[in-house]
Amino acid sequence: MGDGVTRIGVLASGGGSNMQAIMDRIDAGEIRGRIVLVASDQPAAFALERARCAGIATAVLPYHDSPSRGAFTAAILDALRAAEVELVVLAGFMRMLTGELEAAYAGRMMNIHPALLPSFGGPGMYGHHVHEAVLAYGAKVSGCTVHFVTADVDGGPIIVQRTAPVLEDDTPATLAARVLAQEHLAYPEAVRLYCDGRLRIEGRRVHILGAAPV
Ligand code: GRF
Repeated sequence: MGDGVTRIGVLASGGGSNMQAIMDRIDAGEIRGRIVLVASDQPAAFALERARCAGIATAVLPYHDSPSRGAFTAAILDALRAAEVELVVLAGFMRMLTGELEAAYAGRMMNIHPALLPSFGGPGMYGHHVHEAVLAYGAKVSGCTVHFVTADVDGGPIIVQRTAPVLEDDTPATLAARVLAQEHLAYPEAVRLYCDGRLRIEGRRVHILGAAPV
């Protein structure tokens, strides 16, 4: 991190709109970070295309090319280390990884979840399942959560949350779109705070240093 710019590695399986939102804030000079690698388990992920267009190195690591989840995780870890990644950003990455990666990047790996954790999170709660569950439960407010990754699925310390209302005529798709717009604000903000060295983890709490008192 010699020049004070954090080296960021993104893991993405899909469209990569969250990654794009982070790239845009980096390009605007608002985040003291640089994406040095985008890795995906899906060769056709549009996130890879976005990276190539921006001149960012990519790695394609299809899950079934590895004999086990452990081997898949090790391949990802190798790629991150080879690129000297300091902060790992999971942006719509749809594969579970093993504890080896969490241990290697403890306090240095973030994920975004499209609901207000600890509600509507945990194993099986991903993509449209989340928004279906929010609607089925009758919640009036949803949103998104950026958190540090720990062994507890969706259970790591919370960095940033933003809310979105649940409307009367919402479908999972309309709610997902409203939440995604908030994700595009929340994730770059969490990365910005990290790169400015303003996050301090204390137990379950993430303190934001230098935040104005409410
Ligand atoms: C987002 O809704 C994120 O919360 C979830 O997967 C989606 C990824 O979207 N984990 P994108 O690939 O960033 O466009």
